[in-house]
Amino acid sequence: MQNTILNQLAPDLFETNAPASMLGMELGHRMVVVRLQPESGGGLWIHSPIAWSEALEAELDALDPEGGPRHLIIPSRTHDLHLEPWLERIPAETTYAPVALQRAHPDWRIGQTLADQYVAPWSGEIHHQGLRGAPRVSEVDFLHVASKTLILTDCVFNLTAPRPFLAGLLLRLNACKRGICTTRIFRMTIKDQRAFGASIASMLRWDFERVLVGHGEVIEADGVPELREHLDAFLDGFAVG
Ligand SMILES: [Fe+2]
Repeated sequence: MQNTILNQLAPDLFETNAPASMLGMELGHRMVVVRLQPESGGGLWIHSPIAWSEALEAELDALDPEGGPRHLIIPSRTHDLHLEPWLERIPAETTYAPVALQRAHPDWRIGQTLADQYVAPWSGEIHHQGLRGAPRVSEVDFLHVASKTLILTDCVFNLTAPRPFLAGLLLRLNACKRGICTTRIFRMTIKDQRAFGASIASMLRWDFERVLVGHGEVIEADGVPELREHLDAFLDGFAVG
């Protein structure tokens, strides 16, 4: 079957970017899927899913014809849209979220808390790191080791396409130029800059050559130095633009 929703970026790495707007800005919403190895129990790792549809379900089935387990990753307190149909289909024991998301939605069946020390069935091939110091967002970021891919949610945007005037203005008011940036709204959620910087430092020790952001275009190897430089600015406790 030819995929029309999911794009393949590496042998076991897939993504799609669905339209999504916030405050009049078209930001898009990226979903990432990793096909897990037999050593991890196989199945699919589904990160920040877009709206469920039968067409998307069929593509997921085709990626994993043996029907292995599905792991649903809710990577931050603020990425809580479109989830009910996924939560109905994926068992609680393979559903993962930061504790802030679990507290915000106590009625959702989420079996696993994404604390830094938590070891998941997929941890051998996908590492995770919470961004401490920003509890209102509680973003957790990931490294898919085999494809050297860093998977972020909201801490970095990469909106490179030209925007309509008003949307561009709103982004600039949000302290975002075109390309790699961290929004003013996100920066305002950082309550402990040193803790946040320490989390970023852990993440920068990962070996990655590609970055998938929640909002914006994929950052391939030639953009990774700029991304590293951007994140470096958080390390000394100052959220520098
Ligand atoms: Fe987001």
